[in-house]
Amino acid sequence: MYPQIFSAARQVDQAFLIILGFAVFILVAVTATMLWFLWRYNWRRNPVPTDIKGSVGLEILWTVLPTLIVLGLFWTGWTSFKAMRTIPEGAMTVAVEGRMWSWRFTYGNGKTSGELVIPVDTPVKLTLTTRDVIHSFYVPAMRVKWDLVPGMDTDAWIQSDTVGDYDIFCAEYCGLKHADMITILRVVDKAEFETWLNGRDEPEEEELGLSLLEEYGCFECHSQDLSAENAPSLLDLGGRRETVILRDGTEKTITPDAAYIRQSVRDPGAALVKGWDDGMPPYGDELSDAQLDIMAAYLLKGGKAEDKGAALADE
Ligand code: CUA
Repeated sequence: MYPQIFSAARQVDQAFLIILGFAVFILVAVTATMLWFLWRYNWRRNPVPTDIKGSVGLEILWTVLPTLIVLGLFWTGWTSFKAMRTIPEGAMTVAVEGRMWSWRFTYGNGKTSGELVIPVDTPVKLTLTTRDVIHSFYVPAMRVKWDLVPGMDTDAWIQSDTVGDYDIFCAEYCGLKHADMITILRVVDKAEFETWLNGRDEPEEEELGLSLLEEYGCFECHSQDLSAENAPSLLDLGGRRETVILRDGTEKTITPDAAYIRQSVRDPGAALVKGWDDGMPPYGDELSDAQLDIMAAYLLKGGKAEDKGAALADE
């Protein structure tokens, strides 16, 4: 059970508990009655079955009672659905964009972020869109899960009465890195939120990685799809594992990781693959360790999604 509940989420929990309660009650009642009947009316205790012609009282009871239960369950579901769908007047709006395979949140003043930061005790309206395929915006702590469908605008709202960090997942399988489409909902107090909102945009790590690769001209030779002919592709390095033949003729299996990428940039001649001989100049001192780490993280995460999708489709 999560403490950080807003009114709509509380309603969802209530509906869940009421429905669960009825389900358990009915399961127990039916099972108990069945067992009792087995015992009471078996052939030894009740050798001659009674010939019952019907019972108006019972007929009414088992028609009216289930109807009332079903109407009650409907009412519970309906009120919680209404609470989820009724976005409070004057709620702060944040645009949520899903893309393969990350989230982007855009605020009223144009600030963008890879994490959803919201002030505590404030209703926040979310407008959900996707740039490519169907994703699903899922915040378990807020009891919120809405699909992002291409070409469709979806609204939702959340509110938290507790400061803290909560998980945001993509809950709709959307391709290779679906499982990595994770970020954080950061609920902060109001003053902290204002400071953050009006603070300078920190470039996202992902963008930094890409801009470094561009700055150092990596894409002059390498591609992020499979189009480059004179240098290894940087497509999906993180998921790759390949056997290459080194210049000296030996076979080697390469699983690109941060260390491998760092070495390949610093000292490309260390493990020269046959055919790529002497291609790349070493970038020894120009890049700091921190910059290399950001580059490696970007490449291992899969790089630019759009290019990649196209490349995979061509394969
Ligand atoms: Cu986006 Cu799964």
